[in-house]
Amino acid sequence: MRSQHCEIAWRRRTEGACGSTAASSASGAIGPKTYRRSYGTRTNPRVAVNLRDHFPHPYTLEDGEEWLRAALVQDPEVNFALATDRELIGSIGLKLGEDVYRHAAEVGYWLGEPFWSRGIATRAVRALSDWAFADFGLLRLHAYVFGDNTASMRVLEKAGFEREGVQRRAVVKSGRVLDQILYGRLASEDDE
Ligand SMILES: CC(C)(COP(=O)(O)OP(=O)(O)OC[C@H]1O[C@@H](n2cnc3c(N)ncnc32)[C@H](O)[C@@H]1OP(=O)(O)O)[C@@H](O)C(=O)NCCC(=O)NCCS
Repeated sequence: MRSQHCEIAWRRRTEGACGSTAASSASGAIGPKTYRRSYGTRTNPRVAVNLRDHFPHPYTLEDGEEWLRAALVQDPEVNFALATDRELIGSIGLKLGEDVYRHAAEVGYWLGEPFWSRGIATRAVRALSDWAFADFGLLRLHAYVFGDNTASMRVLEKAGFEREGVQRRAVVKSGRVLDQILYGRLASEDDE
């Protein structure tokens, strides 16, 4: 799955779902130097404003290192860096459901601003979704989007998700009360 749908390399163990952090890889390609060089990507308020508050802002190096420590013991691995050979571009991941939600998972992602509007997030969400359905036998994927994040809604629509509903005034972010939009994609018969 990793390079089939997306020319951006997938790196294991990175920041994930709508608000987590970054980097290191099974292949070791995203090492501490790359991680530090890409640090500015994660401090941009235009990224943080669309994510949950557990994606810290301002984002310190210690925040990143703490996240990495947790990611390195993650099992199964569900968080990935989006990266070139030289730098971290962003991250995508899954939050697997539990209990009665165990056949579902939440998708989350972010990209550094210099990489926006090149179709990267769309390709990443498509690739992650195909892999998640195939590898985890999920029935459903979903994502929550703040009501003013039109770009992310477009990403999900292009990746085969459908708008399922609105949770009104569900989010308080940076002093603003926002609706939250729920998007879902079901496994196809081929995936099940
Ligand atoms: C949302 C985000 C992931 C999009 O990544 P991306 O790689 O730029 O997305 P893509 O290029 O694949 O697609 C973006 C689509 O949104 C559209 N778009 C971009 N900005 C837009 C805006 N302000 N209003 C409406 N549409 C917009 C683009 O035109 C494109 O659609 P198109 O292909 O039909 O023209 C990126 O902006 C980001 O990381 N933002 C901050 C974090 C975030 O929002 N994460 C998601 C939380 S749910």
